Amino acid sequence: MKTEFVSTVSHELRTPLASIKGSLHLLLSDEGLVLDETQRHLVDISLKNTDRLIRLINNILDISKMEAGHIHLDLALHRPVDFVEMAVEGIKGFAESRTIAIESEVAPDTPEVRVDFDRMVQVVTNLLSNAIKFSPERGRVEVGARGAGGQVEIWVTDHGQGIAPEDVGRLFKKFQQLDGRTVRAVSGTGLGLAICRGIVEEHGGRIGVESQPGQGATFILDLPGDYVVELIVNDGTVGSAVDSVTITSP
Ligand SMILES: Nc1ncnc2c1ncn2[C@@H]1O[C@H](COP(=O)(O)OP(=O)(O)OP(=O)(O)O)[C@@H](O)[C@H]1O
Ligand SMILES: [Mg+2]
Repeated sequence: MKTEFVSTVSHELRTPLASIKGSLHLLLSDEGLVLDETQRHLVDISLKNTDRLIRLINNILDISKMEAGHIHLDLALHRPVDFVEMAVEGIKGFAESRTIAIESEVAPDTPEVRVDFDRMVQVVTNLLSNAIKFSPERGRVEVGARGAGGQVEIWVTDHGQGIAPEDVGRLFKKFQQLDGRTVRAVSGTGLGLAICRGIVEEHGGRIGVESQPGQGATFILDLPGDYVVELIVNDGTVGSAVDSVTITSP
């Protein structure tokens, strides 16, 4: 009942919010309307907060779907460079607003992975948004991918404050934001990493973090590579039947 309630309320909130957002956009872009600086500033604030509410609703909806086991993955083979680049493209504006450079270093021979493309863009976007948020201004964020022992590793590195070892355990739980002045100064719902973990585990992968406090953090995803295993069973006696089973990942 709780899950149903959450998803109904979230859907009911999304429609009016989308209409508020559309109207505010029109106010800003309508050439027949001349807004003075104060009016423009007020519309800007409303638009930012509408976006924030939309993000919160979408995150709550995602979490409640995961808890109910209703997350649907549209699996197909994709090159990691494609979803990494898509995420970088989408977050460029935010990075520029904080004068952060994003360096993408996907190895050319990185194997394809069987994933839900949009969900992967969502995971990499979440990690990039954190990396940018917790970087000092004019900092550098790196994102990359490579094949590693039958798996594909994707990482996002920043050079910000890092994460204390005692905090690592609760990072990926819901509504967890670590204390500290920098964290309070930046907005967020504390759901991003919980959603990332849910999506990655649903793909049969893992997500983790390596960090030296004060020197930055690297979030790493391990995704199963696309493999085919043929299992041949033969009882060894002459003329015995050979049964084979093909297992495809994930
Ligand atoms: N790269 C990072 N460097 C330092 N701390 C981090 C980093 N990424 C995440 N954290 C810490 O983990 C907390 C949880 O991150 P998470 O992405 O789940 O939430 P959020 O970014 O605060 O909000 P949301 O992603 O929902 O907008 C952050 O608030 C921050 O305290
Ligand atoms: Mg986040």
